[in-house]
Amino acid sequence: MKNVVLIGFMGTGKTSTGRILAQRLGRAFVDLDAAIEEEAGRSIPEIFAAEGEAAFRALEKEAVKRVAARRALVISTGGGTVKDAANVTELKQSGAVICLTASVDAVLMRTAHVGERPVLDGKDAGDRRRAVEDLMEERRSLYAVADYSVDTSELSPLQVADDIIGYLKREGVFRA
Ligand code: S3P
Repeated sequence: MKNVVLIGFMGTGKTSTGRILAQRLGRAFVDLDAAIEEEAGRSIPEIFAAEGEAAFRALEKEAVKRVAARRALVISTGGGTVKDAANVTELKQSGAVICLTASVDAVLMRTAHVGERPVLDGKDAGDRRRAVEDLMEERRSLYAVADYSVDTSELSPLQVADDIIGYLKREGVFRA
């Protein structure tokens, strides 16, 4: 059975939605960021601080290989996982890829807690908005690889999960 893979920018609800989706589908859930933290024995901010982004991306790539080799999972990825073309190829081969999107305002609100997202930290409010806008624009074409996409700005994770289940049913993904 194919995996269901959630991609998208930080703060679009990939982890919350993935967890609900897995419950509703009776599947195991893997959060890629959590899998990386478990393997490394430290948090993502700690990895960024001690070893830098490149080291984090290398761990992320290994984690993608491990999960993409499995089936019947719901997988939530990190916002930057799709920056690596090999990650995209492996995830697409493993299942249906769904992109969650959100407005800049929704993302800023949901990622307001400092200390959790090293790519946005160290910036004051105005710079943070600019950083989100720039990164979103830079990654737009990368997220466009998805088979289906949901704007989560005005939706709860439960509603997003419902929407995705509707899509999977229409597409017959459950039979694949
Ligand atoms: C990142 C997003 C994070 C995490 C890391 C880098 C990014 O995941 O993988 O901090 O480059 O967008 P979330 O999208 O779950 O916040």
